[in-house]
Amino acid sequence: MGAMDDIRNIVVLTGAGISAESGLRTFRADDGLWEDHPVEQVATPAGFRCDPDLVQRFYDQRRVDVRAANPNAAHLALGELYARWKDELLIVTQNIDDLHERGGAARVLHMHGEALSAWCTTCDARHRWFGTLRDRPPCPVCGQASLRPDIVWFGEMPYRMGEIYAAIGRADLFVSIGTSGAVYPAAGFVEEARRVGARTLELNLERSLGSNQFDETRLGMASTLVPDWVGEILASQALRL
Ligand code: APR
Repeated sequence: MGAMDDIRNIVVLTGAGISAESGLRTFRADDGLWEDHPVEQVATPAGFRCDPDLVQRFYDQRRVDVRAANPNAAHLALGELYARWKDELLIVTQNIDDLHERGGAARVLHMHGEALSAWCTTCDARHRWFGTLRDRPPCPVCGQASLRPDIVWFGEMPYRMGEIYAAIGRADLFVSIGTSGAVYPAAGFVEEARRVGARTLELNLERSLGSNQFDETRLGMASTLVPDWVGEILASQALRL
């Protein structure tokens, strides 16, 4: 990748791979999350209608796992970049954990929802939620026992897509970290970035389905690749200042 000193607006897309070294399993590795359950059972509206207790317990466990995990060097490096870049950095994550926020990044867009959020299907209110939902607690706003995980399931529309495309439209650089490029619309963001003339960089453990669309792909662990890349960006900006 050429000199980074003309980079201002950065959009970073992250996937499960950035949280793998924090102990949160990815989806499509052989020990992946779905192995324990068919996707249809735990990540679709039909699965929730069919067996709400199974789905509530599945995400109750995700909430426990997320709270037990800690940000790793990749999250912390992006937090350091955010501290210097502020609103010219947007992190769009497919992950439902809060490790970006706990790693110091404040401008994070969870396009697939959040494990630590509950959504009331009666009054549409959303609540920070650290406990369980399996016992049908009442919604703090309307009192109805209609809270579900605030997760975007297959077949549902990811959150805040307009904001994401607007940010990509302004981007000088699009960086994809720890995602297999298997699920749309996130897998199509790199094509949109190229269309608007942004440079594209992929940081991943292995080549992904979208690798051939990136100007550059660096292979390795996120906890090594991300701090190295952030160091390059900050060094180039120091030259600029
Ligand atoms: N460092 C960097 N990359 C890693 C690491 C690591 N330590 N460990 C795994 N990876 C890479 C894998 O090589 C893989 O390409 O992270 C990617 C994880 O891919 P997936 O398991 O498919 O996860 P993700 O791309 O986030 O899935 C996208 O699919 O199931 C839905 O909604 C779910 O948000 C999820 C979406």
